[in-house]
Amino acid sequence: MEKRNKIVAGNWKMHGSRALVQSLVTAIKEGAASLSDQVDVILFPSFVHVPLVNQLLENSAVMMGAQTLDAHASGAFTGEISGPMLIDYGCRYVLVGHSERRHLFHEGLSVVAEKFKAALRVGLQPILCVGETLPQREQGLTENIIHEQLASVIEAVSIDAFQQAVIAYEPVWAIGTGLTATPDEAQTVHRLIRQQLADCHRDIANAVRILYGGSVKADNAKGLFAMPDIDGGLIGGASLEATGFLAICHAAV
Ligand code: 13P
Repeated sequence: MEKRNKIVAGNWKMHGSRALVQSLVTAIKEGAASLSDQVDVILFPSFVHVPLVNQLLENSAVMMGAQTLDAHASGAFTGEISGPMLIDYGCRYVLVGHSERRHLFHEGLSVVAEKFKAALRVGLQPILCVGETLPQREQGLTENIIHEQLASVIEAVSIDAFQQAVIAYEPVWAIGTGLTATPDEAQTVHRLIRQQLADCHRDIANAVRILYGGSVKADNAKGLFAMPDIDGGLIGGASLEATGFLAICHAAV
């Protein structure tokens, strides 16, 4: 059985100021230094803070990613940011298909697949987010929804691409609500995701890291991270405060 290093990722969404970013990164960098060979810590600031975070993370094992990207490499797309631009400013990862992008910005399955491809083309590791809404869960559609979100990307890029990718299961009903999937509920879905990948390629499925996201906090992280198919967390609200975020990083050891 493959040993998978855990990831703790902080998605700051549209939060933060220059001052907050400065103090948050300084504290996280210091507090996470001792964990560097055990946990991969990745910060996802807003685009405008990417250059500052890049500078602050110099000589640190803490990594940076972006919250989305445009599928094109360049061109007349006012307001958009491309993969090559993100690479140029030190990003190593990029979130693709976050539920806020799918729902608030109407990114459908094909857009998500195009963005995933665009990330791989420039050497950014995509973190593909999948998850069901509350009505979908209540109608017993969780498995179908996750299967469809994952299958559309596998079809677009082939299973081999998942050697350079991470998956995040984020039940939409648990995001920013304080409701968390129990470790068992999350494990059930993580196992399904790994099984779907294993149906295409067993070794790739065993190696891919699957993060849980949705109201992860210092006090529930340990239970979630103890599950066999949960390889860390994608943290929203609790990543905006250094002490709590570092406690989550420590829970992953
Ligand atoms: P919360 O941790 O605030 O629920 O957000 C989860 C999330 O959307 C991370 O991408």
